[in-house]
Amino acid sequence: MALRLGDLAPDFTAPTTEGPITFHQWLGDSWGVLFSHPADYTPVCTTELGTLAKLKGEFTQRNVKVAAISVDPLEAHHGWCQDINETQGCTVNFPIIADPDRTVASLYDMIHPNADDKFTVRSVFIIGPDKKIKLSITYPASTGRNFVELLRVLDSLQLTAKFRVATPADWKDGDDCIITPAVKDAEAATLFPKGMRTVKPYLRYTPQPNR
Ligand code: BEZ
Repeated sequence: MALRLGDLAPDFTAPTTEGPITFHQWLGDSWGVLFSHPADYTPVCTTELGTLAKLKGEFTQRNVKVAAISVDPLEAHHGWCQDINETQGCTVNFPIIADPDRTVASLYDMIHPNADDKFTVRSVFIIGPDKKIKLSITYPASTGRNFVELLRVLDSLQLTAKFRVATPADWKDGDDCIITPAVKDAEAATLFPKGMRTVKPYLRYTPQPNR
């Protein structure tokens, strides 16, 4: 069955370009991003991994570990990394999991047979420090992902895990937040000393509490 938000992220041991990992142990207390790509030596994937390598510091700053996966073998990953580094002007600086027997792809339901029966789709899972799935997005092979959007979502996930706020459409770090409906007005005054702007009783904003 497909993984749903709040489910425990399946644990596994697998070879990667940075040595074997046991996923939960490797994550430790960090947040995690696990993302699949359809195949090595393909153009869109090449740009995706290069983009992520250049943004890796942003993920590390947020205490997030990233790992890629495809059903290609480790030797292919190593050879392809050289191409990524050469063509994208980067150094691939995160593990790429080799999953030729599709163990991990099956655990995470990354093969969608009606799209392609051999290769993984572009799945993204964000996993919290409690090892639970916090976000899951699936893109088709033809559409490269926006990794800046993943950082934006991580900012929201990390903020809303600590404060009783939610983030509105197109929110980005530093913007006003929405006070969650369960918070009563009287309580809000204490929880959000920077103030509250009420547009409707159910739509109340406050400056970002941790800024
Ligand atoms: C790509 O990464 O370029 C790609 C992979 C599989 C199908 C189509 C494109």
